[in-house]
Amino acid sequence: MNKRVKKAVIPAAGLGTRFLPATKAMPKEMLPIVDKPTIQYIIEEAVESGIEDILIVTGKGKRAIEDHFDSVPELEQTLIEKGKSEFLKLVEETTNINIHFIRQSKPRGLGHAVLQAKAFVGNEPFVVMLGDDIVQATVPCTRQLISQYEITNSSIIGVQPVLDEETQRYGIVDLSSSVTEKLHKVKSFVEKPQLGSAPSNLAILGRYLFTPEIFKYLETQQVGTGGEIQLTDAITRLNEMQRVFAYEFDGKRYDVGEKLGFIRTTLEFSLNREDLKYDVMNMMEEILKEHSKSVSM
Ligand code: G1P
Repeated sequence: MNKRVKKAVIPAAGLGTRFLPATKAMPKEMLPIVDKPTIQYIIEEAVESGIEDILIVTGKGKRAIEDHFDSVPELEQTLIEKGKSEFLKLVEETTNINIHFIRQSKPRGLGHAVLQAKAFVGNEPFVVMLGDDIVQATVPCTRQLISQYEITNSSIIGVQPVLDEETQRYGIVDLSSSVTEKLHKVKSFVEKPQLGSAPSNLAILGRYLFTPEIFKYLETQQVGTGGEIQLTDAITRLNEMQRVFAYEFDGKRYDVGEKLGFIRTTLEFSLNREDLKYDVMNMMEEILKEHSKSVSM
């Protein structure tokens, strides 16, 4: 019998250099999409997937994340006194979750960040969710991976196709054979292959489900691409001892880890909101008109 997946690990120790200077004093995980920090979307996906305990791996300068998920009695009291129950609900939503924190003292790569979760995870299967990827799906992405784990009893890596010219930005899977249309056996996982050398265009997009054996490989993992301890390299070694599947999850994935993706996500999320969509559409039309005028002048 496989064990129930109850724990999630969210690495949030990265420096956020792609968003400097905004991230000089503020964690990139706190950048808002419309009115919610990006990390809150990830936590909501975890909770909707049945996860009960979440460990956030932080680093220096990340205290705002802890504060965000802490209660703020003065703010709550003011909202009660002013009868602003809608806002009170929004504030309380961020505090009724079991969230734990641990610090990664030096940024030594994603593999090293996940290794910090060893004691928290113990001998259970768990998920890793990266904050740069937000997935909108009818069945939450993490829940989809858990369903595949319940069938296979094995580690499952969430993947989706990306454009050929984008493969160099991701961990890419080299498939061996397919079990179903979406579930694949894998030969190896390659971190950020050079342009033109990717074995496929199926990319790892920030959602992983691991058996606890991954820690054995993370503990002995040597540095790889970019001089960092890569999670992808440890997955390849785990796959040699214990089958790791790639699963093409359903849903639309947003890349909030780079500028254009971030802007697109903000626009699309606001267009999906009843309270904003018409105003945002009108605003976008106006902006486009103004800009096409200045281009044709
Ligand atoms: C990390 C992983 C990579 C994965 C990507 C998904 O890279 O190392 O395998 O494809 O996240 O977003 P990073 O974006 O941190 O460079």
